[in-house]
Amino acid sequence: MQKVGFVGWRGMVGSVLVERMQSEKDFDSLESSFFTTSQVGQKTPPYLKNNDLLLDAFDINELSRMNIIVTCQGGDYTKKVYPELKKIGWQGHWVDAASSLRMDDDALIVLDPINHIAIDEAYQRGIKTWVGGNCTVSLMLLAIHGLIKENAVDWVSSMTYQAASGAGAQNMRELLEQMGSLYNSAREMLDDPRSNILAIDQKVLESMHSKSFPKDNFVVPLAGNLIPWIDQDLNNGQSREEWKGQAESNKILQNGHDSIKVDGLCVRVGSMRSHSQALTIKLKKDYDVKQVEKMITDGNEWVKLIPNTRENSIHDLTPSSVSGTLEIVIGRIRQLNFDKNIFSAFTVGDQLLWGAAEPIRRILKILIQKER
Ligand code: HSE
Repeated sequence: MQKVGFVGWRGMVGSVLVERMQSEKDFDSLESSFFTTSQVGQKTPPYLKNNDLLLDAFDINELSRMNIIVTCQGGDYTKKVYPELKKIGWQGHWVDAASSLRMDDDALIVLDPINHIAIDEAYQRGIKTWVGGNCTVSLMLLAIHGLIKENAVDWVSSMTYQAASGAGAQNMRELLEQMGSLYNSAREMLDDPRSNILAIDQKVLESMHSKSFPKDNFVVPLAGNLIPWIDQDLNNGQSREEWKGQAESNKILQNGHDSIKVDGLCVRVGSMRSHSQALTIKLKKDYDVKQVEKMITDGNEWVKLIPNTRENSIHDLTPSSVSGTLEIVIGRIRQLNFDKNIFSAFTVGDQLLWGAAEPIRRILKILIQKER
């Protein structure tokens, strides 16, 4: 059996990964070791059903005994440990949820429903570094997979509505604290049905602007607000999150698909763990709505077409209806006034599942099958 070392399994993405692996019984086909940055030598928690002690995530010798290392520990860990393992000539597979190695020439971004052929080819070429994609990129590509398969897409503008989870676990907590602060600031007035809504709004705004408002992580209020910038400022008017749209999409699509132009604005909103994206899609030729819907439905087994009606959209095309599932919902498909080949769509997917843990779980399974 392949020896697989897990690092960062206790964090948010790592926990979702472990849960998915347990529910798919993936642990039965590998020999697991769990590494830690803070609790070396302690017992592995009972839910992991592993009787070994926790190993040191910075012990290069210990790590080098693994055939495969799966890390959800974050980019700083990768930047420190990966070069050290390479330096001693470690020949194992490195599977990483962090972004630091994504654009390296000898790393493949994994999204196997779309790039399984590229994964096979890369494996044959001896590639050993497998990195999960940016969540909005993976979720968008899965949503329009059917259009990509038909080589129908010229360009996509993606305007995102990204959940707090994409910024991290602390940010999710902070969003709820912010919501609580806003509610508490207006609580007494809300209890009085005769109170004036503008006075309530004023109280809420004062709370948002007060020094004590919890915003250590987001820097500004997210609850009752939105943040029209995600990730670093590239100093050319574009955020790093926006840059990833085209760069990562085309790295995933290389070997077997035509490249597509992708651009748009990335915005943080107050949803918990599912990212939404409003897409404007320019197709290479004219199609009608039924043809577009058919192509999208045929994309993959996770994509679910939501009919473009008010009722269906407000109930089934939302973060709250999708969170915790592997469904990639897509709806609001409409030919826009601009031209016959320009369509709108709205898509939602769980940022922690298909956006992060699931592509990692699946590449691990693929590698284990190949290494057998
Ligand atoms: N960068 C994404 C976000 C999540 O901030 O929502 C990670 O892919």
